[in-house]
Amino acid sequence: MGSDNRLDVEAMLAVLKEVPKGDVVLLHACCHNPTGFDLSHDDWKRVLDVVRSRDLLPLIDFAYQGFGDGLEQDAWSTRLYAAEVPELLITSSCSKNFGLYRDRTGALIVCTKSAEKLIDIRSQLANIARNLWSTPPDHGAAVVATILADPELKARWADEVEAMRLRIAQLRSGLVEALEPHGLRERFAHIGVQRGMFSYTGLLPEQVKNLRERHSVYMVSSGRANVAGIDATRLASLADAIADVCK
Ligand SMILES: Cc1ncc(COP(=O)(O)O)c(C=O)c1O
Repeated sequence: MGSDNRLDVEAMLAVLKEVPKGDVVLLHACCHNPTGFDLSHDDWKRVLDVVRSRDLLPLIDFAYQGFGDGLEQDAWSTRLYAAEVPELLITSSCSKNFGLYRDRTGALIVCTKSAEKLIDIRSQLANIARNLWSTPPDHGAAVVATILADPELKARWADEVEAMRLRIAQLRSGLVEALEPHGLRERFAHIGVQRGMFSYTGLLPEQVKNLRERHSVYMVSSGRANVAGIDATRLASLADAIADVCK
């Protein structure tokens, strides 16, 4: 995060250009944890140029599909990379968007242009899986498969994910608005721009400590807050508390 509370894309690209050729590079498809900053479509294309020029293997961590701009919209970068790079790993999680955190449900998707390689990859993955948990329970996976195979259930699920997405978006804009009377709208405008559950608020460790001690408001000392955990009926008190520690 830059000093202006925005994502410093140039600094990020400069670091990426230093990654040794052929390495795996971890990217978050959307709703970046812990910062909340997502890449624009242009930024994704610039990252793609670096990935190509350094033969990097992208591993796209897709843990929050549907929490950013929508189920389809959030897949934009993953689809772009699947079309543009010869090999790609995608880890898709159902923990959040299906509420199945404790059932450990998700998928590793391996994309490669070489069918031959896929046979080797599959046997390597089977080996890892066998050593990890051999034959894991599939209850969560069975729930997801049932929902996705049934158009009516799938539509209901998509509506519920959309309701969660809108709730988080409203909390973000609501908090920025609640900070307006304190003259802090500009300073915290990035919270409305960020996506997903988490936010790098830009609050300093001392301010986070004061929030905790004086107002019983909790976040990580880095200033990372869980936006989804905010009570929508208490945005004004939260804004008062933030204004107090920012004095
Ligand atoms: C970016 C990111 N990826 C992955 C995970 C974990 O996903 P899973 O519960 O499927 O292991 C989390 C958080 O739980 C996360 O924030």
